[in-house]
Amino acid sequence: MTTPRRVESQLTDKGYVPVYTTAVVEQPWADYTPVEHDTWARLFRRQAEILPGRACQAFLDNMAAMGMDAQRIPRFDDLDAHLKRATGWRLVGVEGLLPELDFFQHLAAREFPVTWWIRRPEQFDYISEPDLFHDLFGHVPLLMDPVFADYMQAYGAGGVRAATFGGEPLTNLTRLYWYTVEFGLIRDAGGLRIYGSGIVSSKGESLYCLDSPAPNRIGFDLARVMRTRYRIDTYQKTYFVIDSFQQLFDATVKPDFGPIYYGLKGAESIPAGDVLDTDRVLQRGSGEGWLADGDV
Ligand code: PHE
Ligand code: CO
Repeated sequence: MTTPRRVESQLTDKGYVPVYTTAVVEQPWADYTPVEHDTWARLFRRQAEILPGRACQAFLDNMAAMGMDAQRIPRFDDLDAHLKRATGWRLVGVEGLLPELDFFQHLAAREFPVTWWIRRPEQFDYISEPDLFHDLFGHVPLLMDPVFADYMQAYGAGGVRAATFGGEPLTNLTRLYWYTVEFGLIRDAGGLRIYGSGIVSSKGESLYCLDSPAPNRIGFDLARVMRTRYRIDTYQKTYFVIDSFQQLFDATVKPDFGPIYYGLKGAESIPAGDVLDTDRVLQRGSGEGWLADGDV
């Protein structure tokens, strides 16, 4: 396969992250090797086995409705046909993580950037940056959900705006994305379920986030989430739980974040594992495995 063109590494508060060329690229579908299709197939089957009863129903139903399956790496064009009908989103191929503003601008235009390359077999269980499996399997099914699709677009537009406000608002907004889009839990008709992409694309965390007594599970609160730090290299210490996508939408899309950012200016951030007196605690984590490991 052709190698992604990495441009530079950028030092952020999360350490060095790779930055790639921001150009939109055509998915080189004909170039995927049998090994790459097989990596997709094995990852897909492994998640399909554990996600019923764990992922929220909207995720499972839309995954099926889009025709994603284990057979082969999906073609972006085929998925686009379903997305277009359902919510008007479309996929754009990219080399990898984009600079924040480019990412926000795509979302605001209802374009979801998908990394075109898939992890190597030796990265099967863990990869430190998003690849095609995470981006497609993890993020794309919920773009079929009308309320979630609108949330994602509004998030992008909010990001473009926050970028003009500078550092702290951007940090606040990034935490919101992390604790909802990437690592959110939802109370579905059947009980506690996963909707975060970073969870559904990981076998280990799909089990851990629901079954382990270690992490905290706390009711979603916008300002609380915006103050909460996070780790990108371990399972989460705290998950925030929404009751519905409508609740998330109402709490974020309607209010003007300008005064909220202003109110949070200079506020101390909250360590990822802390529980506050004001939290709506669904489950206080035992901290097993991380209580003693210092803090983010
Ligand atoms: N309402 C936010 C603002 O005024 C935008 C936003 C919408 C942010 C949805 C996140 C999610 O900036
Ligand atoms: Co992601």
